Amino acid sequence: MKILCVAGARPNFMKIAPLMEAFRARKGLEAFLVHTGQHYDRQMSELFFDQLGIPAPDANLGVGSGSHAVQTAEIMWAFEPIVLEQRPRAVLVVGDVNSTIACGLVAVKLGVKLVHVEAGLRSFDRTMPEEINRLLTDAISDLLFCTEQSGADNLKREGVPPERIFLVGNVMIDTLLRNREKAAASTILADLKLAERQYAVLTLHRPSNVDDPAVLARLLDALEQIQRRLTVVFPVHPRTQKNFATGPLGKRLEAMGGLRMIPPAGYLDFLKLMSSAAVVLTDSGGIQEETTILKVPCLTLRDNTERPITAKVGSNRVVGTDPVKVLSAFDEVMAGKFPPPQVPPLWDGHAAQRIADILVEKL
Ligand code: UD1
Repeated sequence: MKILCVAGARPNFMKIAPLMEAFRARKGLEAFLVHTGQHYDRQMSELFFDQLGIPAPDANLGVGSGSHAVQTAEIMWAFEPIVLEQRPRAVLVVGDVNSTIACGLVAVKLGVKLVHVEAGLRSFDRTMPEEINRLLTDAISDLLFCTEQSGADNLKREGVPPERIFLVGNVMIDTLLRNREKAAASTILADLKLAERQYAVLTLHRPSNVDDPAVLARLLDALEQIQRRLTVVFPVHPRTQKNFATGPLGKRLEAMGGLRMIPPAGYLDFLKLMSSAAVVLTDSGGIQEETTILKVPCLTLRDNTERPITAKVGSNRVVGTDPVKVLSAFDEVMAGKFPPPQVPPLWDGHAAQRIADILVEKL
């Protein structure tokens, strides 16, 4: 039974890795991996394949960047002949990036079953491109695998038949647990001359934060204060780099002595950076989940989260972008006021095996 698996952008790679491993180990399942090429820099793509032991893609569509319409259309255009040629039993997509919805649409229109891993998450904010991708992908999927109960509840409310919904845990956490020891050997702290728990990690790349100069300026107000008290390590995403490269914001960043901007980090270095940090400030989705397992306080620089379990179990605080709120949450972290989080149900390193079992049974 051939499953055509899709990965396109950085957060897809840590989700696809354990699935490829589980499928390849399972008799009767054959995995064919397609990389859409949505992310293509070595630091954003190939490095993750190397470090996570993901087999080289069987096909690379080499699509690259573009507007949402262009990128989505190019992926569809390039993906269709592969589905026609491979005739898989199902197409499996992960997460919520443009590659997810583009390949999902192609599959269902060819009458091929669609499997969505990380289904049902909702920020209820339709200005987020990822929210549109999530809603649409879930609306056309045949089997929907959820990481947390809220995902299953959202799908049921949207009318997805319960027999298609499976709460299986979190494949991104499978990858984290598998790589924790390897990451411990990373030399990134020594390379950057950082001491355990004596620094913060910052990531920023959401269009709502980095494409809007007014929001970005507010975030820099908060950052100015924070980096005076704690060194801030900031691996800069290409989208963010572009928006800082020009204009006065870049100059403001350069003037911050406690801020260390570095290129996007590889998986193992980033895992080590997060694990040893005093606090993580981010607008990423996956990092909210990873810090939950690492038991590191996370301040989410957004007005909402599609991953409410991370706030419920205690490690994540959704603080928005108002400097007063960000700084007050930062003060609480520094005062040790964050309770140690609990582990969400089924985030135990075995989600990919559960998915493989269900696919063998249902397809
Ligand atoms: C995409 C996902 C987002 C995910 C993020 C993680 C969508 C809608 N968004 O956003 O959900 O959290 O990936 O990184 O799919 N670029 C490079 N090199 C690369 C990739 C991108 O330089 O390897 C630059 C390009 O100039 C591009 C910009 O980054 O225009 C943004 O890339 P894109 O794939 O459009 O979206 P992301 O912001 O990365």
